[in-house]
Amino acid sequence: MDLLVTRAKLMDRDGLFRIAAENGIITDIRPEGEADSPLLPDRFRTVIDAEGQLLLPPYVESHIHLESAMTAGDPRWNESGTLFEGIRIWAERQRTLTKADVKDRALPVLKNLASQGVLHVRTHADVSDPKLTALEALLELRDEVRSWVNVQVVAFPQQGILSFPNGEGLLEEALKMGADAVGAIPHYEWTREDGIASLHLAVRLAEKYDKLIDVHCDEIDDGQSRFVETLAALALRTGMRERVTASHTTAMHSYDNAYAAKLMRLIRESGINIVANPLVNIHLQGRFDAYPKRRGLTRIRELLQEGVNVSLGTDCISDPWYPFGTGNMLHVANMALHVGHMTARGEIPQGVRMVTENGARTLGLGDDYGIATGRPASFIIADGTDPWDLMRRMPVTRHVVWKGRPIARTRPARTELCVESAAGLMT
Ligand code: FE2
Repeated sequence: MDLLVTRAKLMDRDGLFRIAAENGIITDIRPEGEADSPLLPDRFRTVIDAEGQLLLPPYVESHIHLESAMTAGDPRWNESGTLFEGIRIWAERQRTLTKADVKDRALPVLKNLASQGVLHVRTHADVSDPKLTALEALLELRDEVRSWVNVQVVAFPQQGILSFPNGEGLLEEALKMGADAVGAIPHYEWTREDGIASLHLAVRLAEKYDKLIDVHCDEIDDGQSRFVETLAALALRTGMRERVTASHTTAMHSYDNAYAAKLMRLIRESGINIVANPLVNIHLQGRFDAYPKRRGLTRIRELLQEGVNVSLGTDCISDPWYPFGTGNMLHVANMALHVGHMTARGEIPQGVRMVTENGARTLGLGDDYGIATGRPASFIIADGTDPWDLMRRMPVTRHVVWKGRPIARTRPARTELCVESAAGLMT
C-alpha cells in the first residue's frame, strides 16, 4: 500500500492514530496499539512517524493577491500606509506588468505556501486592466501547479466595475476566460449608488456563468459603508448563500452596535462567508484616526458566536499595501486572536479552525477536504501537539502530504545555547 502515518495526534480526539492512504485517498484511520490492526509499517511503501504531533487537513489561504506579491517599493514605497495610496501605486506598477513578471513572482510564493502546508489558495487577480495580464497569468499558473496545490482565481475589479472604463466588459471577459469567482469593490466605486449597482451586477454575472462570488466589501473605516447588507440580502434572495463571500468588512468595526446586531442576524441567515485579513488590516486601518486609533478589524469574535463562517487570509506579501508577509497562516491566526480579543480558553482553537476547516468552507471544498476515510489524503503534520501550542509558537510544518504524496518536509530549527556563568562556559 502507499502511505502510512503513525503516532499522529488528531484534533478533538484523545490518543494517537495511524492513517493509511492508497491512490491518494485516506483508506483507514485506527488508534495506535489496536490489536490485529492491518496498518503495519512493513506493508506500506512510505511511512511517516508523526511522533505524537498534530495531523491536520492542509492550511487554507482564503484571500491573497498573488499578482502584486514581492513588489513592495516598486515603483515607490507606500509612505502613508493607506489602502488608497496602495491602490494608486499598484495602478502605476500595473502598467509594466507582463505575464512572465506575474508568474515569476507568484510561483515562488505558491511554493513557499505549499512548503508550509498551505495547499488551498484563493487568489484575487486585478481585472481593471484592458489586457487582463494578471488574470491570464494566474489562470495559467493555477493549471500548471494543479499537481501540488489547489488555486482558485477571483476576477477582482480593483478600480471598480462602474467607475473604470469598460469595467463590466472586462469582468465578464475574465469569467469567460475561466476565473472561478466574481469580485467587486463597492466601497471604492464613485458613489454609493454605483456600489449597490456593482453588487447586483456581480451577482447577475455569477448566476449567468455559474461562478462563486468574493467581494472586497467595506474595506474602509467609514461606519456608513454598509454594502455587506446588500451582498447578504442578494445571497439570500438568489439562493447563492454559501457560494458568496464578503472579504475584509472592516467597516463593521466602526458600525453602531445596534446596527451591527441587526446585521449579524442577516449575515447568519444569508449563509455567506466572511474573510478577515488581520495582518494587513491592522496595518492599513485607523490611518486617518488621531488617538485613539481604531483597530479596524471586522467583528470576528461576534460573527463566530453568531454561527457565521469566518476564515482568514494573508492578503498581501510584500506589496504596495503591506511591506511584510511570510505566508505562515498561524501568524495570521495569531494576529486575529490578538486583535479580536479571542484569548478565552475555548476561543484559542478557533485560530486553527479559521485557517483550516473554515477556510475550506469559504472555498467550497466540501468532501475534498478533511481527515476522514474516503477523502483526499492531503494533510499536514505540525510541529506542535495541540491548537494552543500552534497558536502560541506558530511553528513550522514538519510534513506536507498532497493526495498521498509527501511534497515537503521541514526539520524544526535546533538551537544550542551557550551562556557564560560564574562557573565558566556552559553548553
Ligand atoms: Fe484583498
